[in-house]
Amino acid sequence: MHTIDRYREEFENYLSQKAVSREPVNLYDPMVYILNLGGKRVRPVLVLMAAEIFGGDHKKALDAALAIEIFHNFSLVHDDIMDDAPLRRGKQTVHEKWDVNTAILSGDAMLIRAYQLFENYPGETFKQLAELFSKTAIEVCEGQQYDIDFETRDKVSIEEYLKMIEFKTAVLVGASLKMGAIVANTSRENCERIYEFGRLLGIAFQLQDDYLDAFGDPGSFGKQVGGDIIENKKTFLYLTSLQEAASREAVQLEHLYSVNPPDPTTKIETVKSLFESSGAAELTRREIEKYTRRAFDVLEDLDIASDKKEVLYTFGKGLMHREV
Ligand code: IPE
Ligand code: IPE
Ligand code: MG
Ligand code: MG
Ligand code: MG
Repeated sequence: MHTIDRYREEFENYLSQKAVSREPVNLYDPMVYILNLGGKRVRPVLVLMAAEIFGGDHKKALDAALAIEIFHNFSLVHDDIMDDAPLRRGKQTVHEKWDVNTAILSGDAMLIRAYQLFENYPGETFKQLAELFSKTAIEVCEGQQYDIDFETRDKVSIEEYLKMIEFKTAVLVGASLKMGAIVANTSRENCERIYEFGRLLGIAFQLQDDYLDAFGDPGSFGKQVGGDIIENKKTFLYLTSLQEAASREAVQLEHLYSVNPPDPTTKIETVKSLFESSGAAELTRREIEKYTRRAFDVLEDLDIASDKKEVLYTFGKGLMHREV
């Protein structure tokens, strides 16, 4: 096993060889732009780590890792259109730097490029990877649709919210690990367990993403802080505040989520203070810990050496304490 940083470095090297532009530049430049903006590379690192954890060679997993990262970046390009987001990784989003049509088509081509990378695997591996990828990609679309539907829907339950984030985010984290496991040709049981670990970690990951969207440091977060509040996203913070706040505050919060002021500064500040005073901010931090712990419980039953488990624990803890 290598260190997490070493897997990230290897992935970065591989990506820089592969992400090069060509004609027509308005199709390919945005792809190269978004892929080279950085990002944490959480998913490709998980693909490579899982391959080695189950006795495979991580180099053989590089194409699957690249496919996952390209897919993830495609989903961000389209997500930023849907969320009307100006900033990504501290830079202009693709639809802001170019335009919406360019972002749609470049995104489409990225999705196809991701798929194409699985063709580099032999028969049975290809089939398993492609099947998992198709299932996951459709679920991500379903999650994204619920996310948008919930913006304007009156009543959303916490259970519905959790299902939504499982689909839009967590299944891809699970799939990343399972792809590494498939490339390593390990048992079906190992594939399912590592997927479950990733699914639970992915739920914690999205809860944390929502938390940081409100409480992250604007200087380092890389996205517009308060973006979810502007867009009236029914996050765990919001839904828990409604549940926990006194009725006057709950009414105020619901009202704030029904208006779209041209200058959102006061709305963001008021909503954030309601998130804090209702106890929802604290409850969200606890929920992140709860899902991370549940993920770790799944690891306990996994039949791998303890030093390998340790790398996954370290990775999971790192995600829980991240600020970006
Ligand atoms: C952002 O993902 C979208 C979510 C699913 C929360 P990341 O937080 O992994 O984004 P990058 O790739 O590191 O920028
Ligand atoms: C994004 O969720 C999930 C996908 C891109 C599929 P968010 O909309 O919360 O992600 P960010 O915060 O823009 O990165
Ligand atoms: Mg978004
Ligand atoms: Mg979104
Ligand atoms: Mg977010």
